[in-house]
Amino acid sequence: MVIVEHLRKYFGETRVLEDVSLVLNDGEILTVIGMSGVGKSVLMKTIVGLIEPDGGRVLFDGVDITNLSESEYNDRVRSRMSMIFQQGALWDSMTIEENIDLALSIRRNLSRKERAELIRESLELVGLPDVQKMYPEELSGGMIKRASIARAIAARPKYLLYDEPTTGLDPVLAEMVNRLIISLHRELHTTSLIISHDIENLRKFSQRVALLFDGRIVHECAASEMWQQSDPVFNGFIRGEVGILS
Ligand SMILES: Nc1ncnc2c1ncn2[C@@H]1O[C@H](COP(=O)(O)OP(=O)(O)OP(=O)(O)O)[C@@H](O)[C@H]1O
Ligand SMILES: [Mg+2]
Repeated sequence: MVIVEHLRKYFGETRVLEDVSLVLNDGEILTVIGMSGVGKSVLMKTIVGLIEPDGGRVLFDGVDITNLSESEYNDRVRSRMSMIFQQGALWDSMTIEENIDLALSIRRNLSRKERAELIRESLELVGLPDVQKMYPEELSGGMIKRASIARAIAARPKYLLYDEPTTGLDPVLAEMVNRLIISLHRELHTTSLIISHDIENLRKFSQRVALLFDGRIVHECAASEMWQQSDPVFNGFIRGEVGILS
């Protein structure tokens, strides 16, 4: 279970997170929604430890990860939590296989053979069996997305954090990625946090939804009940009403 408590993050004068609290329960898929620029990516990067918060803490299976040493962080967090970045973020100078192998280096106890097997399996799970020797520039945008998911799942993390996995994809590819998220969830028994703008399809790939607005999580509910909420900000956002900006 991941517990986020009273997170605060400012960049200079820019207030991004004011007081964010959130719980990610084991086995669930939780989606965070919110306007562009509201701080969703900052929240996710703070949860994985890439951004240091100004206040609050993140408890990862009971351990406060905001105060760990580098080696404790590597042992307790990096091998068990993977983030799939909004931009894919594969290394251009390495083949897909090398990219994934690099991500696997956090699992120091693996033999070369075991790593090769995990790479093969991970690419198969995302439906990209034949790209091991290819470079990122040789792949389409959708393939890059899937390859970066393969890299994230290679070490078999308990937690997967997806930052806008379907944004910028055509509807068919977006549906494919949504299905991939569900099948990975089932096959690898992961717990996932997703940032998404795909309000229409949200119910298909997640159990719960939380809205980040004005530095806080202002509303949370079951994804199946999201269209029957009375919260005006939440309703305004999911229905695309411009009025919530004021
Ligand atoms: N490293 C940084 N330094 C300074 N400001 C930053 C940094 N990272 C993010 N910000 C600012 O924090 C705010 C929130 O950015 P963030 O990327 O989290 O938005 P977002 O909700 O993910 O938006 P989108 O839906 O467009 O991806 C923005 O004003 C952004 O300029
Ligand atoms: Mg973002």
